[in-house]
Amino acid sequence: MDILHYQQEFLQYLESKDWVKEPKNLYDPIDYILRLGGKRMRPVLTLMAADIFSSDYKKAMPAALAIEVFHNFTLVHDDIMDDAPLRRGKATVHEKWDISTGILSGDAMLILAYQYFENYEPAVFQKLAKLFSKTALEVCDGQQLDVDFETRKDVTIDEYINMIRLKTSVLVAAALKMGAIVAEANEENANLIYDFGLNLGLAFQLQDDYLDTFGDPETFGKQVGGDIIENKKTFLYLKTLEVADKATVKKIKHFYRKKLKENNIKITEVTRIFKINDIPFLIKEEIEDYTQKAFATLAKMNITEGNKENLKVFGLWLMNRTV
Ligand code: IPE
Ligand code: MN
Ligand code: MN
Repeated sequence: MDILHYQQEFLQYLESKDWVKEPKNLYDPIDYILRLGGKRMRPVLTLMAADIFSSDYKKAMPAALAIEVFHNFTLVHDDIMDDAPLRRGKATVHEKWDISTGILSGDAMLILAYQYFENYEPAVFQKLAKLFSKTALEVCDGQQLDVDFETRKDVTIDEYINMIRLKTSVLVAAALKMGAIVAEANEENANLIYDFGLNLGLAFQLQDDYLDTFGDPETFGKQVGGDIIENKKTFLYLKTLEVADKATVKKIKHFYRKKLKENNIKITEVTRIFKINDIPFLIKEEIEDYTQKAFATLAKMNITEGNKENLKVFGLWLMNRTV
């Protein structure tokens, strides 16, 4: 089945839930962020994996919802941490309400996510909860490293890859593995689909970094240049340090020394530095590499060629996205 089908099925399930309760200031932001849209790629992956390993992917709906609610919780808190004004083309929760609301509504979302696992019988529940707890903690690890890197001057590309593995990839991988768990796939296949997700997640976050600077402000949905404003040690930045001449390295490091009130010049200049150093090309190569690694894992899996093809199409769709 194609991606659109899973997306639609998931949206229908999402819309059948009624989030809004008292107190409104706790639940309205949850409703708001969950309705803002997004690609719904993580729940789609859960449903796809379940479909690949069993005949009844609808059984994976509560797990898919848990993943999506958890993901949106991380976005609400991430936007506070990154001081981001825009998400999916609309005001972020802490902008529309305030920071306290973002914190507490986010907390509630994390708990709601856990609650959806109660739909499963004990053996499956335990596996899901165990994977989920491990993953959620790893995401915290990654988020802390991401923030720590803002003020560190000696971050390596290896450290960066480890950071994005934690903040982003493990959730993509867990989304797939949860589908496999619900479908009671064997351990080997569940682990292989997890590995596929890890590499796909790395490609996804690299693409996210690329779009943060080079995305179209009209359609991107987030503030273009946000990573530059926040001095994020992205692949774009770290690769520049590796390939640029001394004077350029000095200049870009200077821009990243502190946070500024006025960012127009910084964004224009840093973007120009990235371009003249061919960084958009170099990051595209890196994205391609991790996508190919993901596809190599697929080849090892004991599933039909048709299903491999579906997962591949998903990977290619992600690689070519603009939002
Ligand atoms: C977000 O990473 C990771 C989590 C929310 C766990 P980013 O900060 O790079 O993502 P965007 O660009 O805000 O979506
Ligand atoms: Mn962010
Ligand atoms: Mn962030």
